Amino acid sequence: METLILTNDENGINKAGEIIRNGGLVAFPTETVYGLGANSLSSDAASKIYAAKGRPSDNPLIVHVCCKEDIYKIAADIPKAAETVIDMFMPAPLTVILKKKDIIPDTVTAGLESVAVRFPADETAQKLIRAAGVPVAAPSANLSGKPSPTKSKHVIADMNGRIDAIIDGGDCEVGVESTIIDFTGDVPVILRPGGVTKEDLEKQGIEVHIDKSILNSLSKSEKPKCPGMKYKHYAPDADVTVVEGEKTAVRKKIKELIGNTDKITGVLTMNGADYDNAVILSAGGTNKEYAKNLFSALREFDELGVEIVFAEFCSDDGYGLAVKNRLYKAAGGKVIHV
Ligand code: TXA
Ligand code: MG
Repeated sequence: METLILTNDENGINKAGEIIRNGGLVAFPTETVYGLGANSLSSDAASKIYAAKGRPSDNPLIVHVCCKEDIYKIAADIPKAAETVIDMFMPAPLTVILKKKDIIPDTVTAGLESVAVRFPADETAQKLIRAAGVPVAAPSANLSGKPSPTKSKHVIADMNGRIDAIIDGGDCEVGVESTIIDFTGDVPVILRPGGVTKEDLEKQGIEVHIDKSILNSLSKSEKPKCPGMKYKHYAPDADVTVVEGEKTAVRKKIKELIGNTDKITGVLTMNGADYDNAVILSAGGTNKEYAKNLFSALREFDELGVEIVFAEFCSDDGYGLAVKNRLYKAAGGKVIHV
């Protein structure tokens, strides 16, 4: 199929909305990562998403809305804590898991009784959902297993020829996917860390727990609550190892590791370091910049033919937990603490 590349002006967005309304697939920018959207009220449309991505059918999709009222049309029995979070934070890089209403087909929720709902802050995303006239089911617009796309060229690389259209909306601001909070249990639980942090929530007096699977610490017999978390994720073709600790020690260790391999080596560094015999990409100086640059850098290492990547990781603050979670997944658990 031919994939239309649309601009994010009124014409482009209206065309994209029409495609979604008619059951097609459109990739669009959000403030987190690009999404691959379809009409969430149609089982047939949603099933095309799984086919285009090569996504396992037991991994449910997030439903995107363009106003708070629409959350109440697709979710039932919304608890007080969720209402507070919706009122205080949305629109935001945040997804809430709530009990689903029947209007959302099982294909979207992979048979779960709950539905993931997100009201994105990005203007193009909001306009698209409004133009579509229906809530939009959208996972990240990458091939299953690949790093999420944060630039339109990433979407084109993965999805050209597989979907109806792509809206080019430039680079995504946050760079990692939304924070997911599960409100279906007694206490709200963060299932995936993202742009809205535990600290942000606590500052507003909202108590949340953090799911164990976030840092790969689940034992084999435990099942993650967020089905997507069990799959290998965010992985470039290169083999990734995270080296974590105080910056000077991290750099000393990475230099030693580079010296021990004949493979083409890359280093993802925070605030430029001088490594010899390695392709160096900068993740920026803060965890916020790291989040924005991470997926793009992982894809770039592949383009440059890098075989092994060592990623510096130094601190957990702010976006640190979100960065660490994606790095650990990209590394398939290969983490060296120094
Ligand atoms: O920032 C984002 O959230 C992006 C943009 C496009 O909005 N979307 C995104 O979707 O990251 P995706 O499909 O790549 O990740 C959604 C995650 C998956 O791990 C999935 O298992 C989980 O959300 N999920 C969806 N519905 C769920 C539910 N009812 N209960 C628990 N986890 C759910
Ligand atoms: Mg994804």
